[in-house]
This record gives sequence, C-alpha cells and structure tokens, in this order.
Amino acid sequence: MKPIVIAKNLTKSYTKGIRALDNVSLTVNQGKVLVVMGPSGSGKSTLIRTFNGLETFDQGEIDILGIKLDCNHNERKIQRIRKRVGMVFQQFNLFPHLSILENITLAPVNVQKRHRSEAEEYGMYLLGQMGIDSHAKKYPSQLSGGEQQRVAIARALALKPELLLFDEPTSALDPERINEVLDAMRRLAKQGMTMIVVTHEIGFAKDVSDQVLFMDSGKVIETSTPDLFFSNAKHDRSRKFLNQLDKN
Ligand SMILES: Nc1ncnc2c1ncn2[C@@H]1O[C@H](COP(=O)(O)OP(=O)(O)O)[C@@H](O)[C@H]1O
Ligand SMILES: [Mg+2]
Repeated sequence: MKPIVIAKNLTKSYTKGIRALDNVSLTVNQGKVLVVMGPSGSGKSTLIRTFNGLETFDQGEIDILGIKLDCNHNERKIQRIRKRVGMVFQQFNLFPHLSILENITLAPVNVQKRHRSEAEEYGMYLLGQMGIDSHAKKYPSQLSGGEQQRVAIARALALKPELLLFDEPTSALDPERINEVLDAMRRLAKQGMTMIVVTHEIGFAKDVSDQVLFMDSGKVIETSTPDLFFSNAKHDRSRKFLNQLDKN
C-alpha cells in the first residue's frame, strides 16, 4: 500500500492558547477514502487546508505524494503539491463571468499550458461524467447549486489530481440536490481516486469511506472503520456527536 498523505503530530494555533490542531496524525493510502467528521470548530477545515498549503502549521510534518512540508512555509513545494492535489469547497467558488467549460479549462490552459482544444475535449468528457455536459456554454448563475458543485468537481479533476480534498461539499446545497453530488463522488471513489472528505453525510461515509476520523477541539478522538464507528464508536464524545446528528 502506497501512502499518499502522512501527517505527523500537526499542531496549529490561530490564537494563542487555542489549538485548532492538536497533535494530529493520520495516513491515507492510495485509492482510499478518509471521511473526517467532528463538531463545528473542531479543526476539520484547518486540517485539510494544511494539505495543500492553504494553512500553515506550527509543529509537525506532512508528506504528500512524497513532498515533505514542515512548519517553515515553502512556497515552491506548495506549488508542486497544488499541481497534484485538487480541492472542492463548500462554496463552489466558480468564476461567475466565465462559462462552465471556460471555468474548467482555465487552469489546464493557463497553468498547465495544455492546448485549448485538448483541454476543452477533456473538459467536455468530465462534464459528461458529472452528467452536466449540456450546460457547458452556460454561466454558473444559470445552474443549481448541485450542478455548480459538480462543475467544481470537474474543474478539480481537469488537472488530473492524484488526491482530492473536499471540505463539506454538500453543506450549502438544498437537500434534494445533495445526492447528485454524493453520487458523483461515489463514482470517483470507485474509479480509485484517493479522497479526504469532510462531511456529515453518514450514508456516504458508510458506503464509501475506508476510514472515519473523528475530531474534537483540534484533536483526533478516534480513527475507525465506518462499520465500527457508526455501530460502536469507542469514545463518549463520538457517540454524543452521532446522537446529535441523528436528531437533526
Ligand atoms: N482564520 C482564522 N483565524 C482565527 N481562528 C480561526 C481561523 N480559522 C479557524 N479558526 C479557529 O480554529 C478552530 C478550528 O476551525 P475550523 O478548522 O474552521 O473548524 P471546522 O472546520 O471543524 O469547523 C476554531 O476554533 C476556529 O474558530
Ligand atoms: Mg469547516
């Protein structure tokens, strides 16, 4: 098994005395899906944002695809990581003035210097995979949230990433639009994509994840298989959290 992400003892404070990350360690192997859960403010976003250099950290080390980061900010390494790691946010962050296809070809053409025709062809293929190729010429505001999020996933895939990070990708969606996005993510997992997904979607976590990591107050409370975590969580705090989720 080839590790794609190895994080060791990551610690970070934004404000003195409050640890957003407190000695967090984890490993994600190639082709595996890690779901990260935990209450609001527990450090989930901070954690996955350190993996593509959107956040710095104070202590510990990260090895992503063999590129090693430590607490000394290293812009060149971060650029190398970002070329190989895609990210999908809760807010889709599409460019409103560009068409759907232009949103997808922008980075491949301008950053990766690929030929426009090839980038467009691959972009159309990805939109087809996401079930939204008929919208290629439209603008983001003409699409539903679920469609926009699938565009954001296609945009991340256009760079042919080796790892995809998702930060609550369905939290901003209407309930009836959530499954179309989760289904697209399920297909990616089946195709062997390595993914780290912050989500509270239990059905998705049960079906798709290989491991569930539960955080609270910046700490990893437990890492389990989904079977164990959802039927028999080890820790009080995890069980309390799951009970809360059930009630919502
Ligand atoms: N940019 C920031 N500046 C200061 N504090 C922050 C910032 N981002 C997050 N925090 C704090 O760090 C902690 C973890 O936040 P976050 O990683 O966003 O948690 P989660 O994604 O689990 O809700 C919280 O206490 C939050 O208030
Ligand atoms: Mg968050």
